[in-house]
Formats: sequence, structure tokens, C-alpha cells
Amino acid sequence: MTGRTTVLAEALTRRFGSFVAVDAVSFEIHAGEIWGFLGPNGSGKSTTIRMLCGVLEPSSGRAEVLGFDVARDPESVKLRIGYMSQGSSLWNDLTVDEHLRFYAGLFGLYGAQEREAVDEWVGRIGLGERRSQLAGSLPGGFRKRLALACTLLHRPQMLFLDEPTAGVDPLSRREFWDIIVRLADEGTTVMVTTHYLDEAEHCTQLALLYGGRIIARGSPQMLKHAPNAGVTVEIISPKNEEILDVVEDLPFVRSASLYGTSLHVTVDRDEQIAGLITALNERGFGIGDVPVITPTLEDVFASSVKTL
Ligand SMILES: Nc1ncnc2c1ncn2[C@@H]1O[C@H](COP(=O)(O)OP(=O)(O)OP(=O)(O)O)[C@@H](O)[C@H]1O
Ligand SMILES: [Mg+2]
Repeated sequence: MTGRTTVLAEALTRRFGSFVAVDAVSFEIHAGEIWGFLGPNGSGKSTTIRMLCGVLEPSSGRAEVLGFDVARDPESVKLRIGYMSQGSSLWNDLTVDEHLRFYAGLFGLYGAQEREAVDEWVGRIGLGERRSQLAGSLPGGFRKRLALACTLLHRPQMLFLDEPTAGVDPLSRREFWDIIVRLADEGTTVMVTTHYLDEAEHCTQLALLYGGRIIARGSPQMLKHAPNAGVTVEIISPKNEEILDVVEDLPFVRSASLYGTSLHVTVDRDEQIAGLITALNERGFGIGDVPVITPTLEDVFASSVKTL
């Protein structure tokens, strides 16, 4: 269930010199949503999040987080949010417990309050057996969990997670996402960036940023079935790599990507599928019928970028 507006961005813009890193983005995030912010390297995801967290001033436009203006009242924002920055760093020579106690202090939790908060999150995030371990010797997945636990001690209503699972193995990523989904179920609003599109499937809403602008948005299901998403077919052939080279040059092909032995090709309209098969068979590939499939998010985003 989603509710009131937790984040509101209106034409939010950030320039570095003459370079526009974030170009007038506008969006709303509602309470309890898991809002996925996707986009290639350098598209402006971290810059947007840093503005929303009150650590980077917008050049123009405005944003409110939990009702506070991020430019006018950044301290009120910072007190109420959790922010796991990209590549957020831990101290290798401090233990798990020492990290948590340090962050508890930053948020004004001392004595019994500190102990309760640390015990609670150690339990919930699954750090119990590692409390006295140095952060430097934690496996990657546990380092990320510790960084997350540090942002949760003061029970923020809004959580910003900037690539929280980068470089983490698939099983640990899944466990991390179980935690995120549980937090959202309890009413925490989450804005999260990731380059792993399997993770994007857990989000209730997605926005794709490209060159500082939002070029597609909606729930994962909506994006895959949007009328302008085109038609995606699957080709399975031992010659898929050669076929990929050919289809990429066909003018009516929006995008094509290889998934192991399967090649997904997106065209604008149904009628173009016959043209695709003809073009391939003229080059001797011997393709029969090709099934229309539900596109993956990767297909959707590749074709959104191509149609700009
Ligand atoms: N302090 C800065 N000074 C100058 N340019 C910057 C600064 N911070 C970010 N940029 C530029 O702004 C653009 C957007 O950067 P940003 O870090 O927001 O991208 P991103 O989408 O988070 O990328 P990634 O996926 O690699 O994390 C990039 O071209 C980056 O080089
Ligand atoms: Mg980034």
C-alpha cells in the first residue's frame, strides 16, 4: 500500500559549471514505495539522491523530503532519513558493534536507547554472529548489511540507498533485498539505485534516467506492457552473434540483446516481424517463426534509449 507524498521533486536541476548533471527532473514518491532509480553510469542518479538528502544544493528547481525543503532546511531532512551513499565506507579496524554504536551516537542515541537500537538492528539485519568482527574482515554482503544497519538505527521513514548491492554475490543480494522489502512492508519509503535489472523487479515504481533526464517511468509490469514498448521477439539459433550484428543494422529494429543462447529483438510494430524474418533468411539464417515474448526490463530500457 502506498500513501502520502514522501518525496516531491519539481524541475530539480544540478549543474557543475556549464555541465547539466540533473536536468529538471520532476517526480513524486509515496509512502511505502520502493522507488527504483535506474540509468547508465553518469546519468545523474547519485547527484539527484545527494540533493534529496540535503548534502548537495540544487542549482534550480526544488525538492521536499518528508515535508521539508531540501535546500532551505537540509538539517531537518538529514535527521529523518537514512542515506547509504554509493560505495559508503566503513572503518576496517572497527568492529560491527563499534560502527553501530558510533552511528547511534551521531543520531543522539545513548545508554539504553543506544543498546536497544543496536540490538534490534543487529538481530533484524542478521549481524548477530559477527558483532565483534572487524569490518575489514567481513565478506562483501555483510559489509553492505552493516552499512545498511548504520542508516537504520534512528528509524528513518525515508531511506535512500545508492547502489547498495554493487559487487555483491547473487545470494547475498537476494537476502539484502528481502530486508528492503520487509522495511517497505512496514511503511519505510525506499529510493534505491541499482545496475542489476533483476533487482529492479522488486521495485513498485521505476524511473529511468538518461543524460540527467527521466526518459521512462512506471511499475515494472507497466513498463513492459506499455503500448510504446514495441514488440519483442525471441530468436534461438546457434548463429545468434552473427544475427545480432545483422539485426542491429536493420532500420526498423529498435534494440537487440543477447541472453545466452537467446536473442531478443524489439521492433516497433507486429507487422515488422515478417520483415525481420525475411531479412534474416535472405542472408541464409534459416529462421522459422519467432515467438513474441514479454520484454525484459533490459529490452525496455534499451529500446527507450534508442527511441530518444
Ligand atoms: N562534484 C562534481 N563535479 C563535477 N561533475 C560532477 C560532480 N559530481 C558528479 N558530476 C558529474 O555529473 C554526472 C552525473 O554523475 P552521477 O554520479 O550523478 O551519475 P550516476 O548516475 O550516479 O552514475 P553511476 O551509475 O556511475 O554511479 C557525471 O557526468 C559526473 O561526472
Ligand atoms: Mg552513482
